[in-house]
Amino acid sequence: MTNPATHSTAPLRVAVIGLGWWGKTIAHYLKSARNMALNAVTDLNTDTGAAFAQSIGAPFFQSLQDVLASPNVDAVILCTPHTLHAAQIVQVAQAGKHVFCEKPLTLNRADALAAIEAVQSRGLALGVGHERRFEPPVMAAMQLIQSGALGTPLQMEANFSQDKFLQLASDNWRLSAAEAPAGPMTATGIHLLDLSIGVFGPAQSVYASVKQLGSPLINGDTLAILATYQRGGHALISAILATPFVGRFAVYGSKGWVEVRDKTHPEQSTGWTMTTCIRGEEPVIQEFPPHPAVLSNLEAFADAALGIAPYPVPHEQMVANISALEAVIRSTQSGAVEQVVSGS
Ligand SMILES: NC(=O)c1ccc[n+]([C@@H]2O[C@H](COP(=O)([O-])OP(=O)(O)OC[C@H]3O[C@@H](n4cnc5c(N)ncnc54)[C@H](O)[C@@H]3O)[C@@H](O)[C@H]2O)c1
Repeated sequence: MTNPATHSTAPLRVAVIGLGWWGKTIAHYLKSARNMALNAVTDLNTDTGAAFAQSIGAPFFQSLQDVLASPNVDAVILCTPHTLHAAQIVQVAQAGKHVFCEKPLTLNRADALAAIEAVQSRGLALGVGHERRFEPPVMAAMQLIQSGALGTPLQMEANFSQDKFLQLASDNWRLSAAEAPAGPMTATGIHLLDLSIGVFGPAQSVYASVKQLGSPLINGDTLAILATYQRGGHALISAILATPFVGRFAVYGSKGWVEVRDKTHPEQSTGWTMTTCIRGEEPVIQEFPPHPAVLSNLEAFADAALGIAPYPVPHEQMVANISALEAVIRSTQSGAVEQVVSGS
């Protein structure tokens, strides 16, 4: 949502809420942002939060409420636990500030609709931390798909796995069923579900299974999803928290296919390899250099907030992703194929 009347070349003055793993990562990226200035940070843990604030030279605030009262903050970047996202988005919007929320936007469809209504009704921008959409080879693959060069998109296969969570204390919120339903889903699977919506549009049904097979992660370490889409197509999504990092995104079409492989975790990209195969031609292998997709996503959000360009992910796709997430969670609990709720 953009408002041309607010078009400006001054940077968007942002605040980062939650200074854990990802809040710190984002705060560091913001130092090289072309259109944002980091004007505030906060964390529930005021000791470690204030120390981090000092280390990067950003003003520390005692709470989100204090940040929202500041006239020097235009937009808030939420890097907080998942169960807090829905209410915090509404709280930020009610204060008249633009919102960038880390994934997942919310944990259910009703909350996603309410969050989007809160920003949309006030003409505020909303961004979500799905940086994979901003990775140059993924953008190139999406363009190939949308141009029709691959023919009709038939099936997506994707895997986003890592073993970072094996280092976490067993009581960490990211390992709890309430904060992280369906095991690896909210950690990595949600990024791939988002890409599948970008490829095929809204999902129709999902079957998902999560198991604890190779680690002490009692919430589950191995997730498999088979999703179908209203327009046709399937997605096969893998997300594992007990194997070393792998990132792979492939789409097969009636005329050809494309596959993108990450060299390292997107936290510190070292680039990608993209292979394209069109029927009757030799496969083409292309190397992509590292690119800070996390920063590109934030900059696109800032452009939207500043009225320069619309945010490239439409609200409908954000809702479609959380609607599919909701069905994935239900399916891991019921063991059955679950329909994805759609419509308004
Ligand atoms: N886009 C990505 O690739 C990516 C990668 C990692 C994490 N994330 C997301 O980032 C978010 C944070 O995850 P994390 O791994 O950094 O967790 P974390 O536990 O390391 O950090 C969360 C921080 O939020 C603080 N906090 C909690 N409630 C708060 C409140 N009400 N006000 C202020 N601070 C509060 C905690 O004290 C903690 O420091 C999650 O949504 C997660 O899914 C996204």
